[in-house]
Amino acid sequence: MKKPRVIITQEDIAKKVDELAAEIRKDYRGKNPLLIGILKGSFVFLADLVRAMNIPAEIDFVRLASYGSGTESSGKIKLVKDIETPIKDRHVLVVEDIVDRGLTVRFLLDYLSFRKPASLKLCTLFNKPSKRKVEVPIDYVGFTVPDAFVVGYGLDLDEKFRYLPDLCILEEQK
Ligand code: IMP
Ligand code: MG
Repeated sequence: MKKPRVIITQEDIAKKVDELAAEIRKDYRGKNPLLIGILKGSFVFLADLVRAMNIPAEIDFVRLASYGSGTESSGKIKLVKDIETPIKDRHVLVVEDIVDRGLTVRFLLDYLSFRKPASLKLCTLFNKPSKRKVEVPIDYVGFTVPDAFVVGYGLDLDEKFRYLPDLCILEEQK
């Protein structure tokens, strides 16, 4: 049995989300940005971020999946659900929960840039640079996390633990 241990509290997450939102608000005021969340993991972060930003913005989602389950997956990414909003000439901000190897966001940024948005940036709450496979430019980043599998605040292990309000590491229960 694995048991979650808190590494970043919900209070610290909330503070960081406010800081990111303030920065994003400054950069996007008057631009009616389109925030594209990557399902499922980013749904909690996106919900908090867009309310903290408190400027007119639109929301859409994609769902990407890499084959496999558990804490390791193959490198193949597939688009399971596309956006429904035309993005040509829009200011697009991709909102992700965690960038790990970088494959997921690299795939999405390439896919979206093909549709000629006015601008395309990436915001991730958590960054795990230790296993990066492909380079991705991250415009807004919350926390750098250690090389461990983390859950909570939307992040899961096989669909479990998304509901946890804090960011946790899973440890073997003694
Ligand atoms: P990447 O393509 O390796 O960057 O994988 C990013 C995706 O894998 C994220 O959108 C998460 O869904 C998932 N992921 C990567 N690391 C973790 C983790 O530590 N906990 C939960 N999900 C993770
Ligand atoms: Mg994800």
